[in-house]
Amino acid sequence: MQTITTVVELRRAINKARSGGKRIGFVPTMGYLHDGHLALVRASQMQSDITVVSIFVNPTQFGPNEDLSAYPRDFPRDEKLCQDAGVAILFAPDAQEIYPPGFNTFVEPGELAKPLCGSFRPGHFRGVATVVSKLFNMVQPDLAFFGQKDFQQCAVVRRMVIDLNLPIEMVTVPTIREIDGLAMSSRNRYLSEEERRRALAISRGLFAAVAKFQAGERDAQELLAIAKQHLETLDRLQYVELVDANTLKPAEGPLCHPAALCAAAHVGSTRLIDNVLLAASVR
Ligand code: PAF
Repeated sequence: MQTITTVVELRRAINKARSGGKRIGFVPTMGYLHDGHLALVRASQMQSDITVVSIFVNPTQFGPNEDLSAYPRDFPRDEKLCQDAGVAILFAPDAQEIYPPGFNTFVEPGELAKPLCGSFRPGHFRGVATVVSKLFNMVQPDLAFFGQKDFQQCAVVRRMVIDLNLPIEMVTVPTIREIDGLAMSSRNRYLSEEERRRALAISRGLFAAVAKFQAGERDAQELLAIAKQHLETLDRLQYVELVDANTLKPAEGPLCHPAALCAAAHVGSTRLIDNVLLAASVR
């Protein structure tokens, strides 16, 4: 595995790797890797010839009072995990490399960035869209792999790929969970034992709705009400919403399109998100 920190070196390595007509799979991350990230790496390895992982804690997607400086980091551990997983290129630039002095151009996503997390984290998806488009330009992958846990991020990036005519296939990989249902997240490490127990209300609520859906319930309000019974036990619930999986607009009445049940809550000082799909999976 090559560990690379500059765009110049990265371009050189990618050009060389691509020379035999190889397909490049890209897994963008903010590091502190867990099994969810490794599932993205595995998906990339199955569908492409060369896997590039990036590790960059992107400052522009954090709000002023968010956890940018506290965001967990362990580069030596991440590097070893990538090496062991068979990653070909690990791109780990510093902030100056991505945002050199004078940087002043952003990618502004539209309506998909407004509801759900967008209404609690203004500017977050602008930061995500900007860094992801920069990373796409640097890596020039054929395929890019994102985790379904960040459902709205997937929707925003997929829209961006279409709107900006990026020649990249977006692949969404199902959420990987702990044995008790908690969605894997780098932020789980912030949770105390007691907070971790309380956090299970999120996945319990979502899966209670899935069970009802599987038993035949199709009414959006009913399904949402079932999830709320669990989620509203959390004192700092931000939202639980059932939305059309493509438009992210609230689902109403009997579900006739794929829908996503999405939730976000603070447990202690840790913000957690999760979601489930109620229908055949979105592409
Ligand atoms: O999902 C993440 O880890 C980040 O939002 C991403 C896609 C790497 C952009 O910084």
